[in-house]
Amino acid sequence: MATLHQISDRPAFAIMNGKTIPFEDAKVSIMAPGLTFAVTVFEGLRGYWQPDEEQLYVFRMEDHLKRQEFSMKIMELEDPPMGTDTAGEIIEVLRANKMYKDCYIRTQAYVDDWGDITATGPVTSSVVCRPRARIEAFLTGKDFVVVSWRRNADDASPPRIKVSANYLNSRLAGLEAKRSGSSAIILNRDGTVSEGPGGCIFLFRDGRLITPTINDGILESITRNTLITLATDLGIKVEERRVGRTELNLATEGFYCGTGQEITPINTVDGKPLGAGKPGPITRELQTAYDGLVRGHNKKYHHWLTPVWPVKTGEN
Ligand SMILES: Cc1ncc(COP(=O)(O)O)c(C=O)c1O
Repeated sequence: MATLHQISDRPAFAIMNGKTIPFEDAKVSIMAPGLTFAVTVFEGLRGYWQPDEEQLYVFRMEDHLKRQEFSMKIMELEDPPMGTDTAGEIIEVLRANKMYKDCYIRTQAYVDDWGDITATGPVTSSVVCRPRARIEAFLTGKDFVVVSWRRNADDASPPRIKVSANYLNSRLAGLEAKRSGSSAIILNRDGTVSEGPGGCIFLFRDGRLITPTINDGILESITRNTLITLATDLGIKVEERRVGRTELNLATEGFYCGTGQEITPINTVDGKPLGAGKPGPITRELQTAYDGLVRGHNKKYHHWLTPVWPVKTGEN
C-alpha cells in the first residue's frame, strides 16, 4: 500500500528489456541479485520542458549513458539483452507517457533471476519516467549538517560509480540529518568534505568557487561538471581541491548540486550561516545560467540537449 512518502504520480508505461509494458507489470524477482545484493547500476536524468518550442529536452543524455556503462564495467555486469538501445528507450518511454512537463528519468541495469554475490547476469534493463518539478529549496535554500557517517571509500565501495549498493551510505547520512530537519554533508575517511547523499558540494570563499576533487569520495557528477564549465564561462574562478571541514563555516556562499536538486543553496552548516544565511549572488547567478542552459537558451551547449518530440521546422 502506497504511503505519503512514496511517489504518487506513477507513469502508465515503463520499458523492460526493450519492451514497453504497463508500469504495474514491470516486476523484479525476489531473488534477483539486483535486489538481494543491490547489484544494480542506474542513472537519474532530467527532462526539461521548453514552452516556446513546445519541446522536452533530456539533459546530457549521452553523458549519463556513458556513466552507466562505466558503472556496469566496474560492477562486471554482462551486457543487457541484445538490441537494447537505452537512448532510444528514454525517448520512447517519454513519448509513451506523453511527457509535456519537467520530468525525471531513471535508467537501470541489474542482475536478474537468482544468483550469488558474484553473478554477472542475466542483466535486465529498464527505463522509467515521472513528472518532477523543480524542488522548492532551489529558491529558499536549505540547512545542512555534517553527519557522523563517513563516505564509503574508493577502495571499498567506490562512490564514483552509480550503484544502488552505495546508497546505503547515503541513506544513513540522510536519516541522521533528517532527524534535525536538515540535509547531510558527508566527510570522507580523511575528514575532508566529500558530498551529500545525492549531490555534490560547492563553496564560495575569497572570490573562488571551491569543490572537492573526484578523488575525494564523490560521484563523477554531471551537474558538477556542468557548473564548473558554466562558472568558468562566467569568469568565476573554480578550484577543484580538497575542502577542509572548517571551510564549510568560512565560506560566504555554498550550494548542493545534482540532477535531482539542480542547485540547492546552502543556508547554514551545523547552525552557522554561510554569509547572510540565505542564497547568495554567485549562487543565484549560476542558477540563472543553469536554468537557461537546460532549457535551450544557451546555444553554446545545445548539443547537451536531446529533443524528445519531433523538432518543428518553422513551416506551417
Ligand atoms: C551520491 C551522488 N552524488 C552526486 C550526484 C550528482 O550527480 P549528477 O550531477 O550526475 O546527477 C548524485 C546524483 O545523482 C548522487 O547520487
